[in-house]
Amino acid sequence: MELETVMSYLANSVNPDGVRAQEIIEALREDIQEELGHAQQFAKRIKELYGVVPGSLDFKAEQSYLQPPEHQTDIVHIIRGVIEAETGAIEHYNQIIEVCDGVDWVTQDMVIEILHDEEGHKRLFEGFLREYEAEGLA
Ligand SMILES: [Fe+2]
Ligand SMILES: [Fe+2]
Repeated sequence: MELETVMSYLANSVNPDGVRAQEIIEALREDIQEELGHAQQFAKRIKELYGVVPGSLDFKAEQSYLQPPEHQTDIVHIIRGVIEAETGAIEHYNQIIEVCDGVDWVTQDMVIEILHDEEGHKRLFEGFLREYEAEGLA
């Protein structure tokens, strides 16, 4: 999930055209680093739990909503896609946190911190969407 987000944010931090795109590009560039950090934390934790981190052939893409839009000036498409990705991550991590309760405190603690990052990402992009909505552009 984190790695797919890195791929999607990478594309969407380069593709957009237009004056208004720059803010989104900047925000996504920063997020790429954070999401990559999350992937590294999960990988490390899998190892600590005696697991093996899967290779790229086990990768399955799911983020249909974060594919490049038809027009590269369609910033709202990207904003909505990011909100959907972050919402999915937030739901997933809340589940992990519950499953870990009383079972695996270290993973729970790690995921709580990651959840905090995702909530911050979502809030930032909800703010971007609000601006477009206020102007009747979304
Ligand atoms: Fe993440
Ligand atoms: Fe995120």
